[in-house]
This record gives sequence, C-alpha cells and structure tokens, in this order.
Amino acid sequence: MAKDAKYTRMIAGLDIGTTKVTCAIGRFENGQLDIIGVGNAPNSGMRHGVVVNIEAATEAVKKAKDEAELMAGVRVDSVWLGVGGNHIQSFSSGGMIAIRHKEVQQEDVDRVIEAAKAVAIPQDRQVLHVLPQDFKIDGQTGIFDPIGMAGVRLEASVFIITGSNAVITNAIKCTQRAGIKVEGLVLQQLASALAVLSADEKNLGTTVVDIGGGTCDMITYYQGSVIHTGLLPVGGQNFTHDVAIGLKTTQNHADGLKRKFGCALPEMVGEDDAIEVESVGGRKPRTLMRRDLCEILEARAEETLELIHTALNDQGLLSKLGSGVVLTGGGSLLHGLVEMGDFVLDVPVRRGWPERVGGLVDVVRQPSCSTVVGVMMYGLSLDKELRPGHEIKATDWTRKLKNLLGV
Ligand SMILES: Nc1ncnc2c1ncn2[C@@H]1O[C@H](COP(=O)(O)OP(=O)(O)OP(=O)(O)O)[C@@H](O)[C@H]1O
Ligand SMILES: [Mg+2]
Repeated sequence: MAKDAKYTRMIAGLDIGTTKVTCAIGRFENGQLDIIGVGNAPNSGMRHGVVVNIEAATEAVKKAKDEAELMAGVRVDSVWLGVGGNHIQSFSSGGMIAIRHKEVQQEDVDRVIEAAKAVAIPQDRQVLHVLPQDFKIDGQTGIFDPIGMAGVRLEASVFIITGSNAVITNAIKCTQRAGIKVEGLVLQQLASALAVLSADEKNLGTTVVDIGGGTCDMITYYQGSVIHTGLLPVGGQNFTHDVAIGLKTTQNHADGLKRKFGCALPEMVGEDDAIEVESVGGRKPRTLMRRDLCEILEARAEETLELIHTALNDQGLLSKLGSGVVLTGGGSLLHGLVEMGDFVLDVPVRRGWPERVGGLVDVVRQPSCSTVVGVMMYGLSLDKELRPGHEIKATDWTRKLKNLLGV
C-alpha cells in the first residue's frame, strides 16, 4: 500500500477463511494501529481452511476488498495474506557460527539463523516462517536477545514452519485475481496469537486455539517463543451441522439458532425457555425447548474440547501451559464454551480478541477478526523502517510496535 506521511504506515490484511473472507485496512500512526476499513464476504470456495474453488474464493476476496475500501476511503493495492490448513508442518532446528568480532552483532544473528534454517525442505513445500526460539553463547542458554553480548560461539534454535506450494499458490491466485498484490504470507494461527496474546502469556506458556468454521488452528508459546503448531479438522460448521440434523432444519437457520440461543452448558439456560425452529420442505415451524438445542451443542463442544486436550497431551504441552488456553475465532463465541473448556482442558481458559487496536473497535474487537488483525500486525513487524537501527527516531517506534505486538 502507499505510504502517506513519513511516520505513518498504511497496511492491509486478508484472511481467506472457510466461512468468510475478511479484508481490513489499518493505519499505524503514533505507535497505534487504527483499523479504518473492514470488509466481510461469505466464502463458499474453501474446505477446512484450503481453497477448493478458485472462482468462488476470488469473488469473496473481491467483495471483502471492495467493502473495506469503501469504508476506509482508500484503495488496497497489496495485502498481507493469512494462510493455513492441514498442509502446514513445523519443526525445530539448530545452527552454530563463530562470532566475528568477539561481540554479537546483527550480522552474526542473521548468519546463525541462516545456518539454523539450512535444512532440506522438499521441493513441493516452502518455508513460511523461521522463528528464533533461543540463543546460546559459548554454551550459555536462555538468551533471547544476543546482540552486544561477548563470546566466540553463537548457537540458535529456530522454529521452522512450512506449507505446500500448491495450496499456498491457490490462496495467492485468489488474491491476485481480485486485483491485489500479495506483500507477504502469515500463518493464520501465528497471526491470531499476535493479536490476542500478551507478553506474559507468551512467556508463561499459552496455547491459542482459533475455532473457525472448518478448522481449529492451534499454536503454543512457551518462554516467549513458538514451540508447536497444529490443526484439528473440526470447527463451527460441525456444530451447525449437528443442530441442522438434530432439529431437522436448514444449515442457515441452524447457524442462526446456534449464535442466538446456543450454549455449550444446557444447565446455563432456563428450563422452560422455548425456541421457534423452521422446518424444511414447506412444513410448519415448530416450537422446541432451547435445552434440546443446547444438548446437541454440548455433545459437540465436549468432543471438540476433548480433541484439543488429546492433541495437547500427545505433544506433552499441557504441563507447559502456565497461562492456559485462549480460545478465539468465531466458534469461540458459543456461550458456555470457555466455562466447559476450564473443566475439560483442566487449565485456565479465556476468550481472546484483538484488544490493542484502535479505530473501528466495534467491528474488529471480535474473536473472528483475530486472524486478520494479527496478519496486519505481522506485516508491520517486518516493516524495515520500523526495525531497530534504521533511523534514530525509529527506536521509539520500535518500542511502540513491540507494545502493540505484545513482545
Ligand atoms: N455467537 C456465536 N456462537 C457460536 N458460534 C458462532 C458465533 N458467531 C460465529 N460463530 C461460528 O464461527 C464460525 C466462523 O468463525 P470464523 O469467522 O472465525 O471462521 P473462518 O475464519 O471463516 O474459518 P476457518 O478459520 O476455519 O478457515 C462459524 O461456524 C459460525 O457459526
Ligand atoms: Mg479463520
């Protein structure tokens, strides 16, 4: 995007989700990210976080972009794009170098990260992120920022995230066909975590679970670094589908009932509460007990949380979650889910949404906007002019950017 004033950055993010595409436009000024335009469009071109119909997804991207542009009164030429799906793989890797001038400089850090990422990646995959986890100088571990420290040997461990070329190319194609250039890619759950987690949560150990329409995208931070990413192929659409089958109604109506009257804990709703349920095939609407709806949702919520629990347990992560689990994404809005999560996951659970942004806060301080806001934050974090050492003034900006990013 065009950069207007010297210390103002315009940035746009795009999240192509299973149920909807969101495009957001932001202005980073005085250390604050203000969202000035947001567009949403339903998306029928995706399954489980992956594009399956380019035409449909492209249309949705166009609509979301047009709506965001209209609201912001600026044009979007390029975006940071969120990518995800079950093709994503991640692993840790290490590297070692000799420190050139007895004291670690940025150039040494760049070299050791280069060394750590020198692993064979299959030709059909590409590296999305190389995230530093920990630095070691002459055997001393636990160094997060090695610059300026003395020593002769610098080691780094990094967390590498890769994705399938074909799947990523399709997501990029939808964006380009909608007339938008892709500035960079961000893993969706990394973006969500950037938007919702505080620095303390990242240090103490927290898993973010973004419950979208088609998938639960997971990412775990421990001691300030990403240590795991994962995905479960279930999401809000499964809840809706269960309601549609159980109450014999359309998917659309079932989704509305879930949002308006749904609750994962039936005992939280009144015993006598009734709801009107549309029928299919021209039959008359029926009046049913609200608890019937909630019992259907309870079963699916319990199963989903059990799957999350098993996934965390299998990876040995539960004991590392000093700050528990943060649920975000549209699916996390289901009433009672957080309360049930406390119980099933046996760690503290909270709901998360982007809190550190300004502007259209009513629109974006929503769990379903975590990804798109985080995508913009990630884009800002890579803005060369806001990085340390670029300009004297930039130091202050970098500090403010760090506050925004919760690092
Ligand atoms: N108030 C609510 N209560 C329960 N579920 C809700 C509520 N609001 C939205 N949802 C559900 O959230 C889901 C959509 O979430 P979100 O917008 O985060 O998904 P997405 O980004 O399109 O999908 P994905 O991340 O899986 O690709 C839908 O299944 C929707 O029914
Ligand atoms: Mg999503």
